[in-house]
Amino acid sequence: MRTVTVRSSKEYEVLIGSGLLASAGESIKPLAKGKKAFIVSDDNVYPVYGRVLDKSLRSAGFSTDAFVMPHGEASKNLSVYGAILERMGSLHYTRTDIIVALGGGVVGDITGFAAATYQRGIDYVQIPTTLLAAVDSSVGGKTGVDLECGKNQVGCFCQPLIVIHDVDTLRTLPNLEYRNGCAEIIKYGMIGSRELMDAISARPVNEQYEDVIAVCVDMKRKLVEEDEFDRGSRMLLNFGHTVGHAIERCSNYTIPHGMAVSAGMDVITKAAAVLGFTDGSAYEALHGLLEQYSLPARCGYPAEKLLEAAQNDKKSGGDVITIVVPRSAGDCILKMINRPELMKWLLAGGVK
Ligand code: NAD
Ligand code: GLY
Repeated sequence: MRTVTVRSSKEYEVLIGSGLLASAGESIKPLAKGKKAFIVSDDNVYPVYGRVLDKSLRSAGFSTDAFVMPHGEASKNLSVYGAILERMGSLHYTRTDIIVALGGGVVGDITGFAAATYQRGIDYVQIPTTLLAAVDSSVGGKTGVDLECGKNQVGCFCQPLIVIHDVDTLRTLPNLEYRNGCAEIIKYGMIGSRELMDAISARPVNEQYEDVIAVCVDMKRKLVEEDEFDRGSRMLLNFGHTVGHAIERCSNYTIPHGMAVSAGMDVITKAAAVLGFTDGSAYEALHGLLEQYSLPARCGYPAEKLLEAAQNDKKSGGDVITIVVPRSAGDCILKMINRPELMKWLLAGGVK
C-alpha cells in the first residue's frame, strides 16, 4: 500500500492499494467523530461494491444509510444535490456524522459539496472507483455540481477526511473509463514529469496502477499544498482543460471529460509548437502517448463554437483566460491571454 499525506488547510492521508475497501471502516473509524455513515454512490458502482463497504463500516461500529443516484454527469446537478441533503436531514444526520463517496468523480464532487454545506459542513470520505477519480478528483477538495450554463459552476473547496483508493475496484472499469483516466495521467506527465511519460509509454498503466496513481497523487499533493485555492500553480492541472471543457460543452457532455481533455492537450501543444513556445518534440511525445492509449487528438467542432463554449470557463477572469502552455514534455507554464488570442491558439492548434 502507498500512503500520500496531503498537508493543506486540513491534513489527510490518501491510501492507495489492494483490498482497501474491505478495511475502509477500520481506516475511517479513528478519524470519525460519530457513528453514522451516509454512503453516496451511483447505480453502476453500488451494486458491485456497496455491500463490501457497508459491511466494513458496520463491522467498525457505524450504522449506515445509502443514497444511490443514476450514474453519469447528468446527475451532478442541484436537484440530486438537494435530494442528498433532504435524505440526510430526514434521517437526522448531524455534524458529528460522516458522508462517504463511493464512485467516480461525479459521485465524489457532488458528495463533497453536500458534505461542505450540510449543516454548514460535515466530514466526508472519498472512496474513488475510477482511475480519473483516483488520480485527480478525489484529492484536493474541489467539490461542486454543474449548472445549465456550464460544468462545475457552483461549488467550494472542502478537503476530505481521508481518501481510500482500492485499486481492485479498477478491474471492473470499462475500457472507455480506463482511457479517460489515462488522459489525466498523461496530463500529469506533460505538466511535470517526463519520467512518468516514459514509464507509461514503456508499460501500460493497468500493469502498474499503484506506482502510477501514487506518482500522480503526489504531484497533485504538491500543487494543492502550494496553492490550495487555485490562484496560481494549481492551475497547471488545467492543462488541456480550457479547450477540453469547451468540447464537453459543445457535445452537451456526451464526450467524456478525459477524451475532451485529450483533444484539448493536443490542440494547445500543437499551437505551442506553431507559436514558438516549444519545439516539435513535446508535441511528438504527447501525440505518441495519446495514440498509444487510443485517445483522441482532434475534435469536430469549429473554432468559433469552441470559443463561445469557453465563455463560462472558470479559468477566466473578466476578459482574460489562463491557459497552460508546454515548454517541453514534462514542463508547462501558465499564460494569461485574452479571448481574441484564444482564437489564435485554436487556429494554430489545428482547429478549423
Ligand atoms: P463518473 O463518476 O461519471 O464515472 C464514470 C463511469 O464509470 C460511470 O458510469 C460510473 O458509474 C462508472 N464506474 C465508476 N467506477 C466504476 C467501477 N469501478 N467499475 C465499473 N464502473 C464504474 O466519471 P469520472 O470520470 O470518474 O469523473 C468525472 C467527473 O469528475 C466530472 O464531473 C469532472 O468534472 C469531475 N472532476 C473533478 C475534479 C476535482 O478536482 N474535483 C477533477 C477532475 C474531474
Ligand atoms: N482537477 C483540477 C484541480 O483539482 O485543481
